[in-house]
Amino acid sequence: PRLDYTKALAEGVGVFRRFPLVPVAGIPLMEPIAQQWGPIATFRARPDDLLIATYPKSGTTWMQEIVDLVLCGADEAWAQRAPTHVRSPFLEICSPPPIPSGVQQLEQTPPPRVIKTHLPVQLVPESFWDNDCKVIYVARNPKDTVVSYYFFDQMNKTQPEPGPWPAYLQRFMRGELAWGSWYDHVCGYWAAREQRRILYVFYEDMKEDPGREVQKVASFLGAALSSEVLARVIQLSSFAAMRDNPMANYSSVPHTLLDPAISPFLRRGEVGDWKNHFTVAQNEAFDAHYQNRMAGPGVPHFRSQ
Ligand code: A3P
Repeated sequence: PRLDYTKALAEGVGVFRRFPLVPVAGIPLMEPIAQQWGPIATFRARPDDLLIATYPKSGTTWMQEIVDLVLCGADEAWAQRAPTHVRSPFLEICSPPPIPSGVQQLEQTPPPRVIKTHLPVQLVPESFWDNDCKVIYVARNPKDTVVSYYFFDQMNKTQPEPGPWPAYLQRFMRGELAWGSWYDHVCGYWAAREQRRILYVFYEDMKEDPGREVQKVASFLGAALSSEVLARVIQLSSFAAMRDNPMANYSSVPHTLLDPAISPFLRRGEVGDWKNHFTVAQNEAFDAHYQNRMAGPGVPHFRSQ
């Protein structure tokens, strides 16, 4: 029988709690992921798999929606066939049994599969590279990323308690949040794009000119979009459309897991919201640390960082 992930989540709510982080090859991951690491590392990718990779809160869900819409020619009804996490499963997600893992979901997902991951490039299962799979990486400036992550960790009842903002910001800078260092993550995929089939996209570019970035995605996927389809992709993947779309806004996940009353999943969707949350002193300290961490050639350039 096909597993119904949404139903399994609803039935298994009792097994969830705020899981501690446990390192896997030096990267802090939620405990159930670390405990079930074996099947993730040995995951068998197919050549027609597409991987959407991001550091958390960088526009993953937005890119998942864009890719799904591009692949179906912006067929609105089809794109609403299931929630995001069922249409493009989350590779490494694990919960305590009996909730099926991301790997188990993917084994039942018919090809061509679109797969989400937050794993840093060095932890991506080897079979993706062996099969020369296409990867779309979305990077977002770190200040908006950490603000978004802070709100997310409050509403996501399976991540560690975020605690007060000043200490949270320090942990982000030290690479101690789930999935590790933002700096290493964005630089790792940036370096890997020389050897691999990686399309590296910036959230800020998507905001600036969604049409241009959707076209880049479409040509990477080998899809030709008419101007009419392109316009529909842009409209259906806009912040307002996704916020109001139950198949794109995570509202189908039990609210005891993701609580939109604390903070909606599609929260603001803007560039520069960090200015509402960083103090002047935090910003100065952050900039000094950033310049230190991101010095030298071979690093991506972020606007509004
Ligand atoms: P904010 O918290 O700043 O609003 P992820 O999907 O990687 O978890 O990223 C979530 C972030 O992307 C949230 O940022 C969310 O609002 C934003 N986002 C999701 N869909 C978007 C869209 N269509 N346009 C702009 N931002 C979007």
